[in-house]
Amino acid sequence: MGCRSGGAGNKADGIYRDAVKVLPGGVSRNTLYRKPRPHYVDRAQGCHVTDIDGVTRLDFANNMCSLIHGHAHPAVVEALSRQLARGTAFTMATEVEVRFAQHLCGRLESADKIRFANSGTEAVMVMIKAARAYTGRPMIAKAEGAYHGTYDYAEVSQTAGPSNWGDLDQPNRVPVAKGTPPGALNDVVVFPFNDLERTLALLDRHADRIACVILDPLPHRIGLFPVDPAYLQAIHDWTRRNGALLAFDEVITFRSAYGGAQQLYPVKPDLTALGKIIGGGLPVGALAGRDEVMRLLDPSADAVALPHSGTFSANPMTMTAGLVAMELFDPDAVERLNALAQSARRQLREAVDVAGIPAAISGAGSLFRIHLGLGEEPVAYRQTLPDERRGAWTRKLVDQAYERGIMLINTATGALSTPMTQREIDRLSETLLEVFRAIKPDLRGAASPV
Ligand SMILES: Cc1ncc(COP(=O)(O)O)c(C=O)c1O
Repeated sequence: MGCRSGGAGNKADGIYRDAVKVLPGGVSRNTLYRKPRPHYVDRAQGCHVTDIDGVTRLDFANNMCSLIHGHAHPAVVEALSRQLARGTAFTMATEVEVRFAQHLCGRLESADKIRFANSGTEAVMVMIKAARAYTGRPMIAKAEGAYHGTYDYAEVSQTAGPSNWGDLDQPNRVPVAKGTPPGALNDVVVFPFNDLERTLALLDRHADRIACVILDPLPHRIGLFPVDPAYLQAIHDWTRRNGALLAFDEVITFRSAYGGAQQLYPVKPDLTALGKIIGGGLPVGALAGRDEVMRLLDPSADAVALPHSGTFSANPMTMTAGLVAMELFDPDAVERLNALAQSARRQLREAVDVAGIPAAISGAGSLFRIHLGLGEEPVAYRQTLPDERRGAWTRKLVDQAYERGIMLINTATGALSTPMTQREIDRLSETLLEVFRAIKPDLRGAASPV
């Protein structure tokens, strides 16, 4: 398992040669792009994925943290097979969307109502539009470096770096895509995550124009360290004083606790964007929140404040897979997985110590992230953004782990899935120890203790 196969006759090379002729860069999602070429899957089961060359690997990428039960869970497959035979999408409502909505509103304390969509990007977009419609204000505030999908406003400063991020007291509004309209940039306040004094000062400058403050309680791209409870409380209080909404992006973090990461904090958001695991392996997004705000979406109103549609929204395949998957991810399953991930983080820290490399492990719930070149756990985006050197180390780590049979997300992040046991965690830490040792010479010159 996990050894390199193929060679001159590698089937994947041939597919990639064809792919570049019809897909930009040969891929349909940038996250799958790798040098020298993407990896091609044949099949997967539980926490293992087999590529088209017949090599099986242990999957800690889990389709970018979206597969809480790994692949092809028998209960999900069975329920989907039944639904598949009955039809996949209708211009009619289904009972299963109602049952799934009941289930999610039952576990997410801040949610009276929910509206399904097809991706996390769409969920965040509707969340922003709902906040604007509710408050009558144009601006949003978001953390520098935070990934909230690809809506123009939500992606501002997601990729900000030293050459363009500006002063921390007033971070620049940095477009991700060439051609982003200046209007989109002008309507976003960018603040440094967990830096209370600066965040409040920045919010104050636009207090009467901010519709919502968006926070991810454990932002992956910022560094996968949790929001500080006092910071969250203060931001919440700021929104109450200034008539703005508090909007959570729980597209990834819903897995953190039975009721989402928000269950871990006394403060609750007005709106929550969901996605990833709630689809049970199929494309999904959802906006959940207080009735007073969600009412804006109500098509039975005389004048609908926020019309929102989507051809495949709440399709019965996604609803079926999502309901089965979420019912299986009950409080015991959440607790077991989080405990396993805690072991993973501890064992990875031990591997870092044994290898004697400068690296830190961050994460919470069922997630971990490896930061090469950092002597201590990061506390700010501007620390974690890899420069060219650290980016190269991270790519090498991810590639070497892959060669040895462990799949990670390209930021050296891992997401656990429920089929995993202590055996898989031991394999992870043992393999990563080998990888740390192999890349140690590259890390010379980084922070101690090399
Ligand atoms: C925190 C967060 N929000 C939103 C999104 C966008 O979700 P999707 O890829 O389903 O559009 C992602 C995707 O990685 C995410 O991590």
